[in-house]
Amino acid sequence: MTENGALMVAMPKGRIYKQASKLFREAGLPIPEDFDDSRKLIIPVPEANMAFIMAKPVDVPTYVEYGVADIGIVGKDVLMEESKDVYELLDLGIAKCRMSVIGLPGWKPVIHPRVATKYPNVASQYFRERGQQVEVIQLNGSIELAPLIGLADRIVDMVETGQTLKENGLVEMETMFSVTSRLIANRVSYRLKNDAIQDLCDRLGQRLSVGR
Ligand code: PRP
Repeated sequence: MTENGALMVAMPKGRIYKQASKLFREAGLPIPEDFDDSRKLIIPVPEANMAFIMAKPVDVPTYVEYGVADIGIVGKDVLMEESKDVYELLDLGIAKCRMSVIGLPGWKPVIHPRVATKYPNVASQYFRERGQQVEVIQLNGSIELAPLIGLADRIVDMVETGQTLKENGLVEMETMFSVTSRLIANRVSYRLKNDAIQDLCDRLGQRLSVGR
C-alpha cells in the first residue's frame, strides 16, 4: 500500500533512526533532520518520493512482510529473531553492536541454567546448537536486571558501549555474533517498485563504499 506511488519506508524509532536518516542524507536523499521533533507516525517526504512509517524496531519486519512498508531498516538481531519472509538487501553498517551471553562475574555452570532475553528464538537456537539445555525466559526490556535479582543465571542481550554491563557489575561471557542494521524489502514491492528500490540501493551502496 503506498501513497501516490511513494516508497513506504519502515523506520525504527530509537537508536537506529538518527544514523539511518543521516546515511540517507549522505546518499543524497533530502531527508529532514528533525524527524524526532514530532510525534507523527507517518512522515511524508515528497521531495524524496518517500513516506516514513515510524515503527517500533521489533515491528519493522512485520510491516515489510505484509507490504504496508515497501522497505525497512532493521537490526540484524531483530531480523534473526523474527524470521520474516522479506529480502535482506544491504548491510548498512550502522548501529554496530553485538549479541552476547552475559552473567555475573564468578558465575559457575549449573545444570539447565535459566537465560533471560528479549530474543528467545535466537537464544534457544544458540544453546541448542551447542548441545546446552537451558530454560529461556522472555523479558521485554531491562534484561540486565534478571541476574541481579536472581531471575536468571545468564542473559542474552545486545552490547553496544558496554556501559550498561559496567554500571550493573555484569560481564560478557561469550560474543554470539555482531549486529548492524540492514535494509530489507517486501518481496512483491521489490518487483513492482524495482527501479526506486534499486536506485536507493545504488545510492546507499555508493555511500557505503566511500565510507569504508
Ligand atoms: C539495549 C540493550 C542493553 C543496552 C546496551 O537496551 O538491551 O541493555 O542497550 O547498550 P550499551 O552497551 O551501550 O550500554 P535498550 O537501551 O534498547 O533498552 P531495553 O533495556 O529496553 O532493552
